[in-house]
Amino acid sequence: MLNFAVLASGNGSNLQAIINAIKKKKINANLKLVVSDKADAAALVRAQQAKIATRTINPKDFDTRENFDRKILEHLKEFHIDFVVLAGYMRLLSPYFIQQYFHKIINIHPALLPSFKGTHGIREAFEYKVKVTGITVHVVTEDMDAGPILAQEAVKMTTKDTLESLTKKIHRVEHQLYPRVIDWFAKSLSRR
Ligand code: GRF
Repeated sequence: MLNFAVLASGNGSNLQAIINAIKKKKINANLKLVVSDKADAAALVRAQQAKIATRTINPKDFDTRENFDRKILEHLKEFHIDFVVLAGYMRLLSPYFIQQYFHKIINIHPALLPSFKGTHGIREAFEYKVKVTGITVHVVTEDMDAGPILAQEAVKMTTKDTLESLTKKIHRVEHQLYPRVIDWFAKSLSRR
């Protein structure tokens, strides 16, 4: 089985869905490590509760993005990580990092890419009053939120939806979709 790491900066509800899916054997890969750039990320607590190794790296300790990423890469090496899952990771990866794990990094985005790229995908779709928004899981490349799409799922928005209710709907679907795609991605990588 392949080893993977999750990079997360915040709440970690997707990380939790991944942990739960592993427990139910719905992801056939080993989650070995959770890395965060934020010492107070709830994602770290979720990982620790599940007895998964964690590393926190403070970007302020590094002069460049690449040097920060090189530190993360050291940890990934230490844990023999085969592929990387971004789950609410709020930093751009350096080209160097992306080259080291070329086409082996995936991300989940809370909108139907290429619409509503960036950090406010749910809010921007809501304010645009779209009828349909959704979730995209894609391969990470150097262009932000623009790598090859692995999966998308639509979420309908009604006139009754508030930003809060839409956010909840999006997260609910994310938590179903991401573990499925991770399992599929791990399977296809192990056959390469
Ligand atoms: C998710 O909505 C994900 O699509 C986006 O960041 C959010 C992370 O939420 N990339 P959580 O930390 O997994 O709860």
